[in-house]
Amino acid sequence: MTETSLHARARACANIALAKYWGKADLKHNVPAVPSISLTLDQLVTETEVLFDPSLDEDLVRLDGRRANEQETRRVVEMLDRVRREAKLGLRARVSSRNHFPTAAGLASSASGFAALAGAACGAAGLKPSPKALSAMARASSASAARSIFGGFVELPAGKKGDRDLSARQIATESHWNLRLVVALTEPGPKDVGSTEGMERSRKTSPYYDAWIEQAPRWARAVKRGIRDRDLDALGVAMEQSTLAFHCSAITAQPPIFYWAPATLAALQTVRGLRAQGVSVWATMDAGPHVKALCERDDAARVRQALERTEGVRRTWVAKPGPGIEVYS
Ligand code: DP6
Repeated sequence: MTETSLHARARACANIALAKYWGKADLKHNVPAVPSISLTLDQLVTETEVLFDPSLDEDLVRLDGRRANEQETRRVVEMLDRVRREAKLGLRARVSSRNHFPTAAGLASSASGFAALAGAACGAAGLKPSPKALSAMARASSASAARSIFGGFVELPAGKKGDRDLSARQIATESHWNLRLVVALTEPGPKDVGSTEGMERSRKTSPYYDAWIEQAPRWARAVKRGIRDRDLDALGVAMEQSTLAFHCSAITAQPPIFYWAPATLAALQTVRGLRAQGVSVWATMDAGPHVKALCERDDAARVRQALERTEGVRRTWVAKPGPGIEVYS
């Protein structure tokens, strides 16, 4: 092991998939079955601190000031074990993680959370992985976290069974295109089904899952071209197809998984209404009821106002392209 203080902090931003990841080629190694493309977002930040402490008998995990539950702790310990193996380190750790998300964000923080944890744990263990290696490490815990290692526009390719090194890469920096993502928080929908379980249930039981897997690369390619050409209309069409198609595979699973609430549809209608008025604005949803609308910077105020007036939308805020992970040792 190299000389190290056994302590480090990391700061990672959340990301939103413009072309969605849904489905695994390898459950054990958490390898995605489809390519995904994301935009890293400023403002939605997780900060994580890791200290390997010789006095501990077990890992202690705190999330947003409370003790992590058993399931949360298990996923954190899995990541720590990966880092300990790599660093040949036997010590247990104190982990403390905070989400600096706008109040009551109700948005998944696993992408920024596992990215920040990978960075802080490696830093504390004296490892200095390349961004690519750090991305692969984050991906093993949560595939969307692989994308949060990088800023701006990021691609995570599809992998195959046993692809342990699969990682994301940046395709354009945050200054490439000054887009805005207007997040519309809706009232809560039905009880959440976690992404991993949702994907597996879709794979095992939905007749539309295979169609999703077959078509997803096409939408990812179109999203990528849209980013390259800064063509929001082209990007938007593919982005909406990608989100609707993955939701179809979830809705047609058995038992069905509906992530949407009535306000989700109302917000989608608002977005379509704005388009009918000539605004280039496009919607995407993840494993939850909230709607995220992508638009040009100059349209963000108008989009925000329209979504705020939509029945069932509780609050909105506007995010910009954000930076990649920072690790402080
Ligand atoms: C719908 O990365 O949370 O947000 O790898 O099982 O942890 P695991 O899944 P996760 O899935 C994200 C799914 C999604 C789409 C996306 O972000 O690409």
